[in-house]
Amino acid sequence: MKRVLSVASEAVPLVKTGGLADVVGALPEALIGQGWDMRVMIPAYRGVLDRLAGTTEVWSDSDLFGGPARLHLGTVGAMTVMALEAPHLYDRAGGPYSDLHGDFGDNAERFAALCWAAAAVAREGAGDWHPDVLHAHDWQGALAPAYLRYSGASLPSLVTIHNMAFQGRVGAEKIGALRLPHEAFHRDGYEFWGDISTLKAGLTTADAITTVSPRYAEELMRGEYGQGLEGVIAARAGVVIGILNGIDEGVWNPGTDPDCEPFSAASLSAKSRNRKALQAEFDLDKKIGGPLVILVSRLTAQKGIDLLPAAVEELVTRDGALAVLGSGDAWAEDLVRGLAARFPGRVGVKIGYDEGLSHRMFAGGDAVLVPSRFEPCGLTQLYGLRYGCLPLVSAVGGLADTVIGATPASLAAQAATGVVFHPVDALALRQAMRRLCDLHADRKTWTGMMKRAMKSDLGWTASAARYAALYERLLAQ
Ligand code: ADP
Ligand code: GLC
Repeated sequence: MKRVLSVASEAVPLVKTGGLADVVGALPEALIGQGWDMRVMIPAYRGVLDRLAGTTEVWSDSDLFGGPARLHLGTVGAMTVMALEAPHLYDRAGGPYSDLHGDFGDNAERFAALCWAAAAVAREGAGDWHPDVLHAHDWQGALAPAYLRYSGASLPSLVTIHNMAFQGRVGAEKIGALRLPHEAFHRDGYEFWGDISTLKAGLTTADAITTVSPRYAEELMRGEYGQGLEGVIAARAGVVIGILNGIDEGVWNPGTDPDCEPFSAASLSAKSRNRKALQAEFDLDKKIGGPLVILVSRLTAQKGIDLLPAAVEELVTRDGALAVLGSGDAWAEDLVRGLAARFPGRVGVKIGYDEGLSHRMFAGGDAVLVPSRFEPCGLTQLYGLRYGCLPLVSAVGGLADTVIGATPASLAAQAATGVVFHPVDALALRQAMRRLCDLHADRKTWTGMMKRAMKSDLGWTASAARYAALYERLLAQ
């Protein structure tokens, strides 16, 4: 088997703050079927090493950005992991990027260290394992191809952009601390408006750039979505590819999900019992004639949370209800709490992060709301499709690529799987919510859409084949 080293800051089931972790965690198993052996390098945050089985040390460094580091090879489930132990950087309370006081001040160094180690393994191998390709994710992994290139090594590399909004931007005074070469500090290198951008370092040095949907790949060339790096993407357009994310069908399967009463497109009866349980869990009214809509999300500007009041007013007028699970920016948490106070029995809110509850929500919900301003791929609309919890989404990025909006034509063609709105504003969302309620009231049409959504192809097979083909192409060059 050929070998690919994946470098990222999160991977399910070890550490997750968003969809990045789902994708990094699912790719290795998906790629086995394509003849690729993928190992995932992530930091050994506190507790990670305890969760790995059969660990052995495969690489070490006496001074990795200010302290000793050891790389441990081990497994968790079907994934082979290389966990980078460097207590001075990773052994901390809190999440991967922050604690109660906010973001860690040395995040640039922490992920540069990860990339430095990854570049070393890419060059020299770890034990008897020598990768053929290096695959880096987001700004946290993007320095790996850069270090590789700056050191003159020729191993093929790619960077996957999961979210262009995060660019790893830090002041130029860190050039030395991040072990970056001064001669690449210019506009065609890693310099970005006088600062360092670790994402740009990767985008300008990797052999290929992928992002997580075809539509987002196009959007990234435009100022609105490119966030200042649209020129870099456009200049490298020939090597930019959009490859859609899949879902881990072992974890997201309504037929086997331990968090709900099982159901399937052929046997939907348990869905209504899951719905009842969800109403109770969120303290919603017992009788809700309209759709029970869910929202499972980081509560940030990206996710269009500011548009919720318009959607909710419409939904409640139509005898529907909304259940929200999320956490994030204070203004957005306040906004959803305010909606719950304004519409008791009709809006239920849980602030926090709860994987099991998210499964129960997809299982019990009629529709999942994803009104993002931009969305590189999005996974919750895919989970919604799989669980017959029809997506109501804005027409951006991966949302536009994965949901077929109900129109007279798509309904007649028996193709519709959700409701899609555009432009991303309150008026269009309000109208879309009205449309969703009308569709929900038409039981025959709604059930048809549910069954179609549940049967759509959402797994990793097709996309893993595209990654494998890309790796092969890079190797052949
Ligand atoms: P992003 O990565 O931008 O946050 P995605 O839709 O790609 O968006 O992925 C989000 C992932 O995080 C999904 O797996 C979603 O179910 C999960 N998620 C988000 N917020 C929560 C939460 N509060 N509790 C449980 N899971 C959550
Ligand atoms: C990012 C994006 C999201 C995508 C995920 C996984 O967090 O915001 O759209 O699904 O990465 O690729």
